[in-house]
Amino acid sequence: MKLIMLGAPGAGKGTQAEILSERLSIPTISTGNIIREALKSGTEMGVRAKSYMDEGKLVPDEVVIGIIRERLAKDDCKNGFILDGFPRTIPQAEALDNMGAAIDRVIDLEVPDEKIVERMSGRRVCESCGASYHMLFKKPAADGKCDKCGGTLVQRKDDHPDTVKERLRVYHEQTEPLKAYYQKQGKLAVVEGQEAVEDTTRLTLAAVEG
Ligand code: AP5
Repeated sequence: MKLIMLGAPGAGKGTQAEILSERLSIPTISTGNIIREALKSGTEMGVRAKSYMDEGKLVPDEVVIGIIRERLAKDDCKNGFILDGFPRTIPQAEALDNMGAAIDRVIDLEVPDEKIVERMSGRRVCESCGASYHMLFKKPAADGKCDKCGGTLVQRKDDHPDTVKERLRVYHEQTEPLKAYYQKQGKLAVVEGQEAVEDTTRLTLAAVEG
């Protein structure tokens, strides 16, 4: 199964992608996580991407298309994958089609902008392994510590309210047109994001199977 998780920043794509990845035993590929890793390791690509990310802008298409081309060529993608945060522009979607990726389904996770700003302010991520938590909706067992690796939980720089607003503006302008793109291909399934993660998961699984 080859899936794309589409949706605004903070709609819960990463959370659902992680759950689906375990259930379907296929890898999740998050361009955001790959770029953050590159940034931590100080690679040239990471350094180049930093200013875009910090301002809530999209990293240039050629950079992320290169990342995805390399990642999809790896062995663990042979039986399928979940793309989380890619594509985000029409040229990225066209590049993916040209790679012959044959996507089965595109899950569009819908959450109103007001809810997103609230969710992002409560998000904390592990600075070691990148696992994501929420201060109200997905608390770690021990305050400030990652359940998976014991790493320290921190707030992402681009989760500050002004940057979140800019990320939402960019989403509506550049990423939302992808809904029509995949609707035309007959691959789009819309899931209304729910208050509880498990309720969203139930709808997401139904959309994947349907
Ligand atoms: P990226 O890391 O992809 O961030 P994003 O898409 O902005 O999405 P998020 O990870 O912030 O949100 P999410 O939808 O995954 O939500 P989550 O599940 O964490 O990208 C960051 C940056 O990298 C971009 O701005 C750009 O600069 C660059 N980039 C990446 N890909 C790119 C591309 N293809 N092209 C160009 N540039 C690119 O959930 C959010 C919070 O809500 C969590 O705390 C979670 O616990 C909580 N939550 C989740 N579900 C629920 C629920 N049902 N109820 C309550 N709370 C919930």
